[in-house]
Amino acid sequence: MANIIIVGAQWGDEGKGKVVDLLAGRCRWVVRFQGGNNAGHTLVVDGQKVVLHLIPSGILQPGVRCVIGNGVVLDPGVFLHEVDALAARGTNVGPERLLVSTEAHLILPWHRALDRARERSKGDARIGTTGRGIGPCYEDKAGRRGIRLADLLDGSDLRARVVAALERHNAELQSLGEPPLSVDAVLAELAPCVERLRPYARAVPALLWAAHRAGEGILFEGAQGTFLDVDHGTYPFVTSSSTVAGGACAGSGVGPTVIDEVIGIAKAYATRVGSGPFPTELHDALGERLRAVGHEFGATTGRARRCGWFDATMVRHAVMVNGLTRLALTKLDVLSGMGPLRICTGYYGLDGVPGGADQLARVEPIYEDVAGWDADLSACRRWEDLPEACRAYVARIEDLTGVPVALLGVGPGRDAVIVRDPLFGGT
Ligand code: IMP
Repeated sequence: MANIIIVGAQWGDEGKGKVVDLLAGRCRWVVRFQGGNNAGHTLVVDGQKVVLHLIPSGILQPGVRCVIGNGVVLDPGVFLHEVDALAARGTNVGPERLLVSTEAHLILPWHRALDRARERSKGDARIGTTGRGIGPCYEDKAGRRGIRLADLLDGSDLRARVVAALERHNAELQSLGEPPLSVDAVLAELAPCVERLRPYARAVPALLWAAHRAGEGILFEGAQGTFLDVDHGTYPFVTSSSTVAGGACAGSGVGPTVIDEVIGIAKAYATRVGSGPFPTELHDALGERLRAVGHEFGATTGRARRCGWFDATMVRHAVMVNGLTRLALTKLDVLSGMGPLRICTGYYGLDGVPGGADQLARVEPIYEDVAGWDADLSACRRWEDLPEACRAYVARIEDLTGVPVALLGVGPGRDAVIVRDPLFGGT
């Protein structure tokens, strides 16, 4: 079985969860390698909506083992809450199929408090973070003062670590007008988590290596998207982790030679939540219509997503920085009845995507007008079932991005897809 990385080719929310869920049936392992509970994967299974923020969506597939890798930042309370919620709906979340790297850094109460207080203090200059403490946790990790799962379980110098963290972070919290956190309150919040987390904690690299040697397929499930990557995204309007395919190796402890395929997920249009440049954003009624028809509201924060035209320039860039071998194009059904469509094919006076957010905010898109279609796509299951204009739209995206579209999403349900590639079980 192949080892596959799945990443978002836009700004997140591309519908990765559904594609992972589909592919997970063909793999034995699903691994998250970056981000934390800033992500939100909405899945519709048997008509029931399931939202997961931290635990890989592969957990819904029996026989799949799910791993939270070292690159993920883990909020202990959120993890245990998801475990309980999944158990309540009858999903097996035992430690034999749900594993967390001992090296994963913990999101602690000061990270959440700092994230929110900083955003509040920034006013209009805010990043629009999810407020889950992601950035401050990665700061402590890179600053070599973070607290990992292993440190929590070991416990011997946990109090000293919390005291040191609060000496530093309470000063900033108070400077932002927030109350300081108490060492005892933090320790009391963590205490009930320790024994519940212990069975899940594992040395992940050796497990994944053994899985690879045994030929068990491993699926690496990216969160967020290429343009939220801390290096390759629209900095500083990014998240704090490596969301690109390269991050899968560092964030889980496998080498690049283990990877067989890198699949990029892109929505058939574009959305972004939070601040930052978005060249093809629609500020008119059409943008509102996309939001309404596509239910473009964040799975994590409920915020309305900004909507716009498909930007082939950005997705082509995503092909490059991730080494994408295939694309999955989701939510094609949302474009039905939108009238004539547009695809961004470049920016005036530029060759490709500029590096900084400042430059990207100033670009002027070059659009190609393409025909739309009115037919409802939700019952289409074969390529030939799609209206001709729709097939031409997909073919044009393949031309412009240089990679084949292997899978099309035509509705919210698990089976509402058109498969064009044996990798997804098609012919
Ligand atoms: P943070 O990851 O909470 O620090 O937020 C940084 C930026 O990433 C903000 O613009 C968020 O809206 C965005 N972001 C974080 N996670 C997601 C996601 O899963 N989907 C879409 N945007 C996200």
